[in-house]
Amino acid sequence: MSWNDRQRRMLAAMGVRVFAPAPAAPAVTVAAAQAGEPAVNADTAVVERAAEAAVAAPGASMRTATPPGAGLAPATAATPAAARPGPPAATVARATTAAPTPAAVRAPVPARGATSVAAALAGAIDPALAERAAHIATLAWGPLHEAVAACTACGLCESRKQTVFGVGHAQADWMIVGEAPGEQEDQQGEPFVGAAGQLLDQMLRALGLSRRAASGEGAEDDLAGDPARRVFIANTLKCRPPRNRNPEPEEMARCEPFLKRQVELVKPRLILLMGRFAVTQLLKTDDAIGKLRGRVHRYEGIPVIVTYHPAYLLRNLPEKAKAWEDLCLARATVGPDAR
Ligand code: URA
Repeated sequence: MSWNDRQRRMLAAMGVRVFAPAPAAPAVTVAAAQAGEPAVNADTAVVERAAEAAVAAPGASMRTATPPGAGLAPATAATPAAARPGPPAATVARATTAAPTPAAVRAPVPARGATSVAAALAGAIDPALAERAAHIATLAWGPLHEAVAACTACGLCESRKQTVFGVGHAQADWMIVGEAPGEQEDQQGEPFVGAAGQLLDQMLRALGLSRRAASGEGAEDDLAGDPARRVFIANTLKCRPPRNRNPEPEEMARCEPFLKRQVELVKPRLILLMGRFAVTQLLKTDDAIGKLRGRVHRYEGIPVIVTYHPAYLLRNLPEKAKAWEDLCLARATVGPDAR
């Protein structure tokens, strides 16, 4: 496998050093590059869960059908924001800040009603929850934010400090779905703010994406004007499970309508699922990440790429190269075209 300059830059941004001397040289030494990586304090529970999942399907993860980086869209190929059709930009900077004004977000997608998967799942637990799911499916961005903040649909509301709605741009081409808030996320009200979040931000930078959309905080935010550079980051659960334990199926079922509605409103061109709970939630499969990665799945017609959770990558550094392959596949899948 050979790496071109752009691929090398992406790997470097993710903290993977490639020792191949020139683009033409095929040899890549990833494991050796990991040795100098500083230790990080990852979410142990997530790491262990991800490791279990990875062990469940050893060797199944290195797919070669789609060469990593094949068809990568050069960053410069993206259409300038000014040339794009569609509504003006809207930002959901933090879960604790005000939601975008209704005029600034996209027109809500028509409600799908109680026939949705989320509604069916909820209804299997309690018919009243089917009605709740159908209601959530009608909410615009602001009311959805409020509904999450006020949610008491499961026991997690008792132990949470605050809900973690999501962060990023309300009209993003990319949507990333993680697992659940950890301690720091619970305190700060924003997803992926711990060590795993720092790695996620590196991965985003490697793709030219920014979670700080249109906030005027610096050069990185300049990327936010272009939908192709925007990302919205959400979790499967909006509340922290106590002691970072695994999400319970019932908690996931009751939280699912929120994520489903977020996807409907953001209308991403690509969803990146990180870790097995995000996969279970949206793809309805218990298959291991190693078995699912390397190909394009679909959620409500939207292309979905599966990859490892950043917390898992922090403890399994050689797997970063696989994650990078997944990012390349995601980049190739989302393509260079504007909305
Ligand atoms: N892990 C996740 O999956 N989500 C977060 O928000 C933080 C850690």
